[in-house]
Amino acid sequence: MADLGVRIAGVPLRNPFLLASGIWGESGESLGGAWSAGAGGVITKSIGPSPRLGYPNPTVETYERWGMLNAMGLPNPGIDEYPREIEAAHATGATIIGSVFAGDAAEFARIAARMEATGVAALELNLSCPHAEGFGTEVGSTPEDVEQIVRAVVAAVKIPVIAKITPNTADPAGLAVAAERGGAAAVSAINTLRALAIDVRLRRPVLSHGLGGLSGAAIKPVGLACVWQIFEKVSIPVIGVGGIGTAEDALEYIMAGAGAVEVGTAVAFEGIGVLGRLATGLAALLDELGFARVSDAVGVAHQAQPA
Ligand code: DHB
Repeated sequence: MADLGVRIAGVPLRNPFLLASGIWGESGESLGGAWSAGAGGVITKSIGPSPRLGYPNPTVETYERWGMLNAMGLPNPGIDEYPREIEAAHATGATIIGSVFAGDAAEFARIAARMEATGVAALELNLSCPHAEGFGTEVGSTPEDVEQIVRAVVAAVKIPVIAKITPNTADPAGLAVAAERGGAAAVSAINTLRALAIDVRLRRPVLSHGLGGLSGAAIKPVGLACVWQIFEKVSIPVIGVGGIGTAEDALEYIMAGAGAVEVGTAVAFEGIGVLGRLATGLAALLDELGFARVSDAVGVAHQAQPA
């Protein structure tokens, strides 16, 4: 059986499937549940400086099979309250990555240090939520901002720092290069695509916030293209995210250059059991294709001769 273990940003994972941030509740219990269901690791909901209720409903619109549109508004209990949830998740033995968001480099560094103190294995910086005023893409869309934020966080913590970058820009790979320059140990790509749905009878956007972020199968080709371009420009590991629902989807990302992947919308649609099924399915697919371990397949599509 193919070896599913990978090492990303110095963190050993029992398989490459990470629970994506914000998808399966934010409590310690729900994170622990994802671990018990077979995740290689779990990423927390993005935690910020203070408690936020998020936007009023409706916050989610689902599309049959091909995707999901959401604008939750970064609801979270704040960094003062969150450590108790991490403690509960640690009790299950889970490998935990703490996601943080903030409005500027100094605030990122402060929250990152607090998150590090909870004992998480690594940090993922949310530089890419496509619709929250003052956060996400508003602070992470230029190489200069990304580099400055990553550098400030790296100086404030000892654990590895992963920058989650946005596809809502002309040059996502340029943002990844900036993150590497700032000292990031890995980058994750992509976050949701800025998107909109209109209710024609109500003559207004479906979501209360108006704009939201699109995820799911529809964005897989976009995520693959970003991972492909990033892999050619950086030497740190890339974590692929966007529309992974089958083992074959995951292997596409791996062959494009991802050393691990995050799963979000498939968990929202199918439940947490999908993580274990993906891991079993990937092991079988690697066996079928003659790969002894995940790392043997990382980036192999780049070696193909152009027609
Ligand atoms: C939210 C959505 C995102 O895509 C993201 O990266 C962070 C937060 C949200 O609406 O809470």
